[in-house]
Amino acid sequence: MTALQSSRVDALAGEARVPGDKSISHRALMIGANAVGETRVHGLLEGDDVMATAESLRALGAEIERQKDGSWLVHGRGVGGLREPSSVLDLRNSGTGARLLMGLVAAHPFTSIFTGDHSLVGRPMERIIAPLRRMGASFVGRSSGRLPLAVTGTDSPLPIVETLKVASAQLKSAILFCGLNGPGVTTVIEPTASRDHTETLLRHFGAKVEVTAEGKLGRRIELTGRPELTGQSVTVPADISSAAFPLVAAVIVPGSRIILRQVGLNPLRTGLLTCLEEMGATVVCKNQRDQGGEAYADLEVVASGLTGITVPPERAPAMIDEYPILAAAAACAEGITRFEGVSELRVKESDRLAAIAQGLAACGVKVEEGEDWLAIHGQGRPPKGGATIATRLDHRIAMSFLVLGMASDKPIAVDDGAPIATSFPGFVDMMNALGGRIEDARIEASAS
Ligand code: S3P
Repeated sequence: MTALQSSRVDALAGEARVPGDKSISHRALMIGANAVGETRVHGLLEGDDVMATAESLRALGAEIERQKDGSWLVHGRGVGGLREPSSVLDLRNSGTGARLLMGLVAAHPFTSIFTGDHSLVGRPMERIIAPLRRMGASFVGRSSGRLPLAVTGTDSPLPIVETLKVASAQLKSAILFCGLNGPGVTTVIEPTASRDHTETLLRHFGAKVEVTAEGKLGRRIELTGRPELTGQSVTVPADISSAAFPLVAAVIVPGSRIILRQVGLNPLRTGLLTCLEEMGATVVCKNQRDQGGEAYADLEVVASGLTGITVPPERAPAMIDEYPILAAAAACAEGITRFEGVSELRVKESDRLAAIAQGLAACGVKVEEGEDWLAIHGQGRPPKGGATIATRLDHRIAMSFLVLGMASDKPIAVDDGAPIATSFPGFVDMMNALGGRIEDARIEASAS
C-alpha cells in the first residue's frame, strides 16, 4: 500500500486535461470488439479498469493494441463473434467492465468465468443476472450472485422488455449488449435517465437504437438486434468524473483559478456542476463542441465561498460518482448539505456513504448518516483535517480526501493511493502541477 498525504496550499493555477472518460473508454473497446473491421480510439483512458476490460476482450478473441501515436486499435470479431476464453476474466476493481462484459458473453454460446479484487467480489450482481437469465443465459455464482461466477451464454437471447428498478447505466448497458446478438427488439425502460454513452456509441457503429421519453424523468430504449456494426473512429473526451477533483480543489482553495480542457459534458453526467452552481461556485464553459454525439468544453473555475444545499434524489444518476468529491466541497460550505435518495452509494467500489461519513468525522466535520441519506454540517471554512482515511479500495474516496487536504488546517492522508490508478493515472502529478502538495506518507495511526 502506498500512503499519500495532502497539505494545505495557496491558490491553484494553470490548466490541465484530465484523462479520457472511463465509461466511454470501456464501451468503445467493447463495441469495437463486436464490430467488423478496425476501430481506432483516440484519448482512451489508460487506467487499470479499462486495461482490465482490454485484457478480457483479448481473451475473448478481439485484437486490441496501443499504437505509437497513443491511439488504440481494435480488430473486432463482429456481433456474436466472441470466442470462449481459455482463462478466467479478472476485471480487478471494475464494476463497469464486469457487468457490461457479462451482458456481452451472455449472448454467446460458451462459458466464461468472472472474478475481481476484494472490492468487486463484494458487489451485487443479482441485478444483472436476473434479466440476463430471462434472456436465456445461465449463471453459477456465490450468494447474491457475487463473483467469482460462471456465465454460460446462449446464441439466441430472447428480446425482453425490462423495466429497471434502479437507474443504472451499467444494468441498462448489460441488457442492451446481450440484446445486440439477439433477434428482434430488446427494450429497456429506465425510471430516471442514466448516462447514455452506450446508446450514442451503438448508433455511431451502425446500430438502430430508438429512445423516447417515459414519464417525467425516464426513457424507453429500443435496440434492434443483430445489426451490422462496422469499425469506427472514436474520440474520447476528458472524464468529467475525474475533472471533478481539480474542479472542486480550485473551488475550495482560496484564490485559485484553473482551466480544465475538453471535459465531456454529456447532460446526463453534469449533476455536480448543477450542485456547485447552486452552492455559489462559478464554473464557466468555454469552446463548447460536439464529437460523435458527445458534448465537451473547457471549464474555467475560480475559488468561491459555498453554501449548503439539498441534492434531490432524481439528480443522483447524473452525478452518481461525484458524491464523495461534493462531500469535500460541502465540508467547506456554510450550512448543511443533504444528499437524498443515495442508497446506491452503498454498493459502489466501497460503501461510500459510510466512507464519507467516517472520513469527514475524522477530519472534524459533523455528519449525520441515514440508510439512503447523508447530512454534512459545513462550517463555512475548511475543516481541521489531521486524519488518515481508509481508502477501502475506492479511488474516488482516496482522491476526494486528498483534495480536502489541500484546504484543511492540517494535512489529510489516505492509507492507500494505489486505487487512484484505476480511473485517474497521473492524478498526483497533475494536482501538484496545479499547485497542490500531495506526497508519499508514512502512516502511524490506524485509518478511519
Ligand atoms: C457507470 C455507471 C455508474 C457509475 C460507474 C460507471 C457506467 O454505475 O457509478 O462508475 O459506465 O455505466 P451504475 O450505472 O451502476 O450507477
